[in-house]
Amino acid sequence: MTKAASKPWWTDAVGYQVYVPSFQDSDGDGWGDLPGVTSRLGYLADLGVDVVWLTPFFVSPMRDHGYDISDYRRVDPRFGGDAALDRLLAEAHHRGLKVIGDLVVNHSSDQHPWFQAARDDPGGPFRDYYLWRDPAPGGGLPNNWSSVFGGPAWTFDARSGQYYLHLFLPEQPDLNWHNPRVVDEVDAIMEHWLGRGLDGFRVDTAAFLMKHPELPDNPALPPGEPHPVLGAAPEWRLLDHVYDIHQPEVHQIHARWRRRADRHDAFLVGEIYELDPEALAAFVTEERLHSSFYFGLVDSAWDPARIRTALRAAATASPRLSWVQANHDRPRPPSRYGGGATGVRRAMALHVLDAFLPGVTWLYQGEELGLANGVIPRGRAADPLAAADPTQSRDVARTPMPWAPGPGLGFTTGEPWLPEGGRTGADTVAVQRDDPASSFHAMRRLLAARKRVLARSPAAQGLTWRDDAADDLVVYRRGGVTVAINLGDTPIAAPPLDHPVVFDSDDPSVTLDRPGTITTLAPYQAVVAAAP
Ligand code: GLC
Repeated sequence: MTKAASKPWWTDAVGYQVYVPSFQDSDGDGWGDLPGVTSRLGYLADLGVDVVWLTPFFVSPMRDHGYDISDYRRVDPRFGGDAALDRLLAEAHHRGLKVIGDLVVNHSSDQHPWFQAARDDPGGPFRDYYLWRDPAPGGGLPNNWSSVFGGPAWTFDARSGQYYLHLFLPEQPDLNWHNPRVVDEVDAIMEHWLGRGLDGFRVDTAAFLMKHPELPDNPALPPGEPHPVLGAAPEWRLLDHVYDIHQPEVHQIHARWRRRADRHDAFLVGEIYELDPEALAAFVTEERLHSSFYFGLVDSAWDPARIRTALRAAATASPRLSWVQANHDRPRPPSRYGGGATGVRRAMALHVLDAFLPGVTWLYQGEELGLANGVIPRGRAADPLAAADPTQSRDVARTPMPWAPGPGLGFTTGEPWLPEGGRTGADTVAVQRDDPASSFHAMRRLLAARKRVLARSPAAQGLTWRDDAADDLVVYRRGGVTVAINLGDTPIAAPPLDHPVVFDSDDPSVTLDRPGTITTLAPYQAVVAAAP
């Protein structure tokens, strides 16, 4: 076996996150579904995607749009049912695409039979599947923990006189990961889906799961210094989360899952909002998760100095990270980076920066179109977090995928579950496909160039950064590939590139077959040069 052939399949893969409710509806009910995704697999393969992450498609009351699961082993009929998943997997694998699911096991739905049994029978075997506590000695909440979505992390159950813990909605009770029966249940669920053909999981809230066994109060953060992670209610951000999340015991769970995943040649990528690269790297080893998203860019406004330092530190800490700018939980990058054409250029510049770092590079649906935030009219909020803090609403990233101009945007023939978002014709796939200078084509060219140069670059793992580059210029080299990006708003002389330019964010005529040369980089222009 050659060295290249022995690399795991996710090495240098391109991932694409499908937020299933908003990607493609197939039956006119205004809600995206798996047959809809299947009908767009050709689009994803043509774009250059290797692995598709599907957000949760399991049976759910949809209080958090699928992140509240009431039956872990069945596909919700609203998403098309079990047969639709079988067809999707067969079609994806036929095209050479991998498909990963979403493992949401920090909590279940309160409608899950485990929780119903736990609540109805306090002395029964399911009680300990969840975290129940008596009121504090003087009455009231067991501790000071807050829910990510706002309010206390505890809800009182009058029947038993105890509280149960939920780090998200009251309808999302936290599972008790100190109970070996919970561990066994989830093993069996993973085995079920890996056996059915899923190629792995994105692990939801991967560093939550385990809580400190004594559930002590979390200390308050100093006034004026809220928790750096956004996407949470204001009260959650006032606490230092030392006891409720990121407990070291969680590594044992990940290691256990890793062994199972490896038996199936499956991939586990964690959702871990750990912004310290060294601490994040501890989750991602040969024995733990295969990869984790690095979230240093998903909350970021446009701050080139911070961004380049953060990415460099993360890439140095681990060669296995998953690079993302966006997901269904955060505002879209062009909006965070100043909006308009400049916001789109800045986002593309960072896609090029991410794309050649060792690890997996990810797109969230619509990033290839340069989409800004969708517009949500007043009174149409659907996200539970919007109730706690309207400025953190995740709906702006979840409006329907704009496939084509016209009512329903080619997403649905019916009434979409979220407003269309104020998209223009120029935002749509149909229009961008006809324009070689569009975001869509730039992304497609980028992914094609990436695939070809990484496949043939023998020293693809070595990464060196040029320290002498001008302030706004980021230059790094990986094997025979050089990436140069102007993160500033004035033109800059290009660095020596040594090799022909094989990707140029501003010039659609540059391809691997028709390379170019570059002397100056315009603001936010990004180029890739590679040995022939
Ligand atoms: C993750 C998901 C988010 C969900 C939360 C609770 O952060 O990405 O959408 O609300 O977990 O499951």
